[in-house]
Amino acid sequence: MGISDFFYGRMEKGLELLVKSKKVSVPDGSSPVEADAGARLNMILWGDPQISCLSPLRSGRVYSACMDVLNSKSKFDALVMLGDISEYGTKCEYKFTQKLLEPIAEKFKNIFAVSGNHDIRLRNYKKQVRKFSSFLEGIKNGRAGSGEKYFFSKTVNGYKFIMLGADRAAFEGSYIGDGQLAWLDRELNEQKDSGKPVFVFNHQPLKRTNGLPVTFLGKGKWRGSVGNESDKLLKIFKKYDNVIYITGHLHYCTSKYTYEDCGSFKAISVPTVGVINHGNFAKFTQGYVLSVYDDKIVARSRIFGEGKYVGKEVSNSEFEISLKNICQTV
Ligand SMILES: [Fe+2]
Repeated sequence: MGISDFFYGRMEKGLELLVKSKKVSVPDGSSPVEADAGARLNMILWGDPQISCLSPLRSGRVYSACMDVLNSKSKFDALVMLGDISEYGTKCEYKFTQKLLEPIAEKFKNIFAVSGNHDIRLRNYKKQVRKFSSFLEGIKNGRAGSGEKYFFSKTVNGYKFIMLGADRAAFEGSYIGDGQLAWLDRELNEQKDSGKPVFVFNHQPLKRTNGLPVTFLGKGKWRGSVGNESDKLLKIFKKYDNVIYITGHLHYCTSKYTYEDCGSFKAISVPTVGVINHGNFAKFTQGYVLSVYDDKIVARSRIFGEGKYVGKEVSNSEFEISLKNICQTV
């Protein structure tokens, strides 16, 4: 037995024990997550599953969240995971994530993920990109990029989804090279007269947005953000008015920082589904359900593992983004 199989076996046993001993919550199905049939597009957003070969609790939390989706009678257009799918970027962690997602793959027309710093930082970049892509290709309805780098776009129900990804390994930030920046600019330019929002997904938020640096434990001028290329991304976003920029990485709860109208673009920071959420509303398994209409986007925060939406007393438990100024056809 190889080392990867050994750890995979341990992960399987770890989850089994948690489920058996009822140490993971399993939603009872009385109020499952549902898509809005009247919307143009429905998606579920999960930040940082960070499945770890050493922490069964993370698998348990993602398992709980998946059970909520399994209870649903709806089919969603997309599940998007905002990076740090794995803790150490190991084969057994991706294989186990595939196992967790397998029962719910049919509930989504598309399953996307962007790579996070944890996915690529400890290993050879090229090998990790291949591993990451084959992880997604190994899931039914999983969508992966095809190039040597991890960035690509896809149209879902007429809306452009752009997945960004670091061009080389970095411990914390995300290096976005000039080639990817130019590609992003072209992709956005193609959509500028579409009359529709464009969804740009990346692991890290931009500097000084979504409560940074407070939401990343208050340290440094760039920590928690993309890093050096943050200003370059900002310069591109400022050329357009229809970018919805959606990120993870902060492990920060549903809060006043979750959504920020940055003028030319709108920034959504999604809590973690697998790890501890910092901040006042420190519940596990938080994520968002987004419904897109012609004139607005409605976002609702949900505690997936408990099978319920976050109460109105929590800031940004529900928020709307008006598309009236973004979309010329409205
Ligand atoms: Fe991260």
